[in-house]
Amino acid sequence: MSIQTIKWHGNSVKIIDQTLLPGKVVYLEFRDVKSFWQAIKKLQVRGAPALGVAAAYGAYLGIKGSRAKDHKAFMRELDGMIRFIGSARPTAVNLFWGLARMKAAAGRNKDKPIPRIKEALLGEAHKIYEEDRAICRKMADHGARLIKNGDVILTHCNAGALATADYGTALGVMYRAKEKGKKFRVYADETRPLLQGARLTAWELMHEGIDVTLICDNMAAHVMGLGKVTKVIVGADRITRNGDTANKIGTYGVAVLAKYHRIPFYVVAPVSTIDFNMARGGSIPIEERHGGEITTIRGNMIAPKGVKTYCPAFDVTPAGLITAIVTEKGVFKPGEIKKIR
Ligand code: MRU
Repeated sequence: MSIQTIKWHGNSVKIIDQTLLPGKVVYLEFRDVKSFWQAIKKLQVRGAPALGVAAAYGAYLGIKGSRAKDHKAFMRELDGMIRFIGSARPTAVNLFWGLARMKAAAGRNKDKPIPRIKEALLGEAHKIYEEDRAICRKMADHGARLIKNGDVILTHCNAGALATADYGTALGVMYRAKEKGKKFRVYADETRPLLQGARLTAWELMHEGIDVTLICDNMAAHVMGLGKVTKVIVGADRITRNGDTANKIGTYGVAVLAKYHRIPFYVVAPVSTIDFNMARGGSIPIEERHGGEITTIRGNMIAPKGVKTYCPAFDVTPAGLITAIVTEKGVFKPGEIKKIR
């Protein structure tokens, strides 16, 4: 993939600024954890698996300059850093999973001198990055088998290269299907309020030569009713043990529509997106964003000043609406994913 979402670069973390896409392709470099936290909060880097990678590099950014004199003080600083990065966004479990991997790596190396622990932490972050690239390709292999010639796939939000280290989850499946010569088309929901579908998915799919048609979110029912959609494929931010799945706000509505129109609804996500500690979707913390994201579109006011808003960034699709979940370990019915552990 030629799109570079996130990468360690010398002594800093480099990301493509997703808030400027598709108009401008700008890469940003972060040398300190505070500004990188802001980048996560502002969605300059976003998407669950990419957040796992960002969390890992963020933790290293935050701890690499530590002057802790002993291990206890170093671990305390690392814990503080992990809490700080974890406060950026609550829903995507990959963020916390990435931080937990960093904490575990520090624990495994706790008997080494502090500079060696720091090296081990950077090594762990690189490992998470490389693993994500490989995992995306494994999910793509499993998921591509579900795509048939002539399929018309609807997707919501952006679950592509931009949402992962590269290649993507839901879009990765499409990339692999295309590589295998399958002929299919895609409808991309625009994904209000922040337009990840219009800005990112449409851009990514066009960039990769996939036939994509952009629709507004509220057109999905009409398009399905006309019989134009044969499959829905989306990503996920957190999947609970029973298969309930949090993804970008609007996904639940798409799943209800798919059920009504008897269209298979697939979720593509790495095992790191499964929260084995959480039983049901009702417990997933749903991020609420600033109402300004609804009252404006790219800085332009579209609602009366002072109007009340409610801006949940994610919703939960109940397991019963999901046909199957594609992971790097294979394709599972939602009720079967607890077995993966
Ligand atoms: O708020 P965002 O843009 O981070 O939300 C992203 C999504 O909801 C994606 O669909 C999800 O993270 C899956 S990405 C492979």
